[in-house]
Amino acid sequence: MPTTTVTPSPTTGAHLEFDGKSVVLPMINGSEGEIGIDIQALRAKTGAITLDPGYGNTGSCRSSITFIDGEKGILRYRGYPIEELAEMSTFLEVAWLLIYGELPTAEELARFSKEITYHTLLHEDFVRFFQAFPKDAHPMPVAAASVAALATFYQQPETDKSIQDAVLRLIAKMPTIAANAYKHSTGQPFIYPNNSLDYSSNFLRMMFATPCEEYTVDPVLSRAVDLLLILHADHEQNCSTSTVRMVGSSRANLFASISAGISALWGPLHGGANQQVIEMLERIEAEGGDAQKFVDRAKDKKDNSRLMGFGHRVYKNYDPRAAILKKSCASVLNKLGIRSRRLEIAMKLEEIALKDDYFITHKLYPNVDFYSGIIYQALGVPVNMFTVMFTLGRLPGWIAQWLEMRRDPDTRICRPRQIYTGAVQRSYAPITSRTGRA
Ligand code: CMC
Repeated sequence: MPTTTVTPSPTTGAHLEFDGKSVVLPMINGSEGEIGIDIQALRAKTGAITLDPGYGNTGSCRSSITFIDGEKGILRYRGYPIEELAEMSTFLEVAWLLIYGELPTAEELARFSKEITYHTLLHEDFVRFFQAFPKDAHPMPVAAASVAALATFYQQPETDKSIQDAVLRLIAKMPTIAANAYKHSTGQPFIYPNNSLDYSSNFLRMMFATPCEEYTVDPVLSRAVDLLLILHADHEQNCSTSTVRMVGSSRANLFASISAGISALWGPLHGGANQQVIEMLERIEAEGGDAQKFVDRAKDKKDNSRLMGFGHRVYKNYDPRAAILKKSCASVLNKLGIRSRRLEIAMKLEEIALKDDYFITHKLYPNVDFYSGIIYQALGVPVNMFTVMFTLGRLPGWIAQWLEMRRDPDTRICRPRQIYTGAVQRSYAPITSRTGRA
């Protein structure tokens, strides 16, 4: 067996000795002190590759958009703490920050908001497109398909101007697409955007107004939506964002790349967890509200239940977004005069889990999805729309990451390698000579 040793050194690099070969790999330092070993020369110099299922130790890019310190529970967009943005900014302001790198001036924000407003309508042919989906279609694949279909309406060759137009169109049309996906599932007619409303209020109205009844947007609700969107706006190289970058690395257009990101987000271990959390709380409630019993099941390796909304690949501490949402959840329900049995069960689950040895040793804390569903329910958002809400929020992050990837001179098409473990070469056997497999 060949022996391998890696000795990181901040000055001289990481010295890797492998099977009689030796290579010095450069060290890369991030602005917050994190250290990486640049392995780009590894295969050429040693013939070996790395193996890292789930990429837990693999940096796929350099990025200046979002910083997370999972051990300390820190999240910053472009250097600004999530707590400050959540308290003081708006979603469109955060979208600008993520995409263009700085907080906008009043004039820039006004221009951006106006441009977004200008593009909120969908082409009328989209109505026929929506009609083709079954009535009970989950709104996530409807959203993914709709965003992919935008590429058929805007087929301009890629230039800085056409990319900028695509950015504006995506941010502007996503609430319209999301609300239409919902309206389609209820069989109600689509409600056109009202451009006198702000981003989140416009979305709520498109969701809940009908041709027979106007919907007056409660500022408490629209602020709650804006906050949720801010908290979801970016989260560095998570599964869906890495998907957006990976698809975009083939030079696929922005619409196609974002559509792929929406599909990745749908999974129950990623954005789909918010739907799973509420379904879990409903199940516990229906079974009599015994939180301890569910925590015990989540720990039992023979039972494949997990405590949904708990645990995170990066956070080994309380997810700062969950801390903000927990407070907001209580305050929104209070302002709306709603008493939620599900919030009570969630808080009990959290209390039990945070004292439990399994959750402590595994460093499992509530994540962003743990409390978000309870707020969505209070807003009247149906359960199968929860992950679409996550999509609305994550959109500017995906866009910023896609743009950064495209502008990075180091970007190459993403093409991981593998350690092949299949059959070694063998000869084709004619079908008549094959014996049956037991
Ligand atoms: N409940 C019970 N046990 C858990 C949980 C959980 N929610 N999460 C992880 N574990 C255990 C897991 O069984 C394993 O135990 P052991 O080492 O004894 O076999 C250990 O913790 C490590 O788990 P893992 O699956 O290897 O960790 P990961 O980093 O690959 O997965 C995760 C992270 C978020 C997929 C996982 O914690 C999970 O499934 N959580 C529930 C789903 C969820 O809430 N997802 C939303 C994530 S936040 C929103 C987003 O950005 O997508």
